[in-house]
Amino acid sequence: MTRKEPFEQPLVRFDGRVAVVTGACGNIGTAICKMLSEHGVKVAATDLSESALADSFKAMPSVRTYRMDVTDADNVKATVEDILADFGKIDILVNNAGVWIHRDEKAPRRIEDIPVTEWKRVFAVNVEGTLHCLQAVLPHMAANEYGRIINLGSIAGEVGLPGRADYSACKAAVIGLTRTLAMENAKRGITVNCVSPGWINRKEDGGVQPCDGTWIGWSGDATDIARAVVFLASDSAWYITGVDVPVDGGRILGPHNCDM
Ligand SMILES: NC(=O)c1ccc[n+]([C@@H]2O[C@H](COP(=O)([O-])OP(=O)(O)OC[C@H]3O[C@@H](n4cnc5c(N)ncnc54)[C@H](O)[C@@H]3O)[C@@H](O)[C@H]2O)c1
Repeated sequence: MTRKEPFEQPLVRFDGRVAVVTGACGNIGTAICKMLSEHGVKVAATDLSESALADSFKAMPSVRTYRMDVTDADNVKATVEDILADFGKIDILVNNAGVWIHRDEKAPRRIEDIPVTEWKRVFAVNVEGTLHCLQAVLPHMAANEYGRIINLGSIAGEVGLPGRADYSACKAAVIGLTRTLAMENAKRGITVNCVSPGWINRKEDGGVQPCDGTWIGWSGDATDIARAVVFLASDSAWYITGVDVPVDGGRILGPHNCDM
């Protein structure tokens, strides 16, 4: 890889790039696709349902949509081939698809109460789904000696989350995977990073709200996550690899009991 001169680059630059985003119909996935597209990136938005894709991206005609189930390795491989046939290359992969099993928050489950079926489902999407996409896309990035991979982690994977052993374990796996793949791919021109959301509110739930659980004092929204993803996906972020960026208003810094 040739060393580029970082000072000549603007903060966020994309050089005719093509991105694949998984879980694109979700709250964060749609924001990532929109922001990448606004920065001139050609976006392949993928998710489970064709009708949800059509609905989510009807106002973004430049975004192409593909039905892809990340838990199905053959389906992922075939979809990646379709995307390569349509765009000629893949420069950016955002592994965003994820599941969070809805549980009664007032009765959180200890590890002994989590059904193995739920544990397996969370790992099938959040970890194995990421693996399938990496295995399908990495060889093409390696052949081009260029790639930006961004995995969606969670601060639960960094500091734990009582009652959510399945989710925190799967996101810790994603963070560990990120670090190892950064090492394995650094000499191939491919960076691998993680963005870990904290407390993110949806527009339909009233948007950002005051939040004592963060140092900044507010919850975040999907665009806060998208900004970090877009920066790490840019050509300009070439010297950043193997990191996990918490986007959480300082939530993981510890007790939020200082009046300063
Ligand atoms: N929202 C938060 O507060 C928060 C916090 C920490 C981490 N995260 C992570 O950020 C990512 C996005 O979260 P979100 O809040 O937008 O979630 P979301 O539920 O709004 O969207 C997730 C998307 O993934 C898709 N998906 C689920 N299973 C799939 C599969 N097998 N194949 C393909 N797509 C599949 C869903 O259809 C959905 O569109 C996830 O990885 C999540 O774990 C979110």
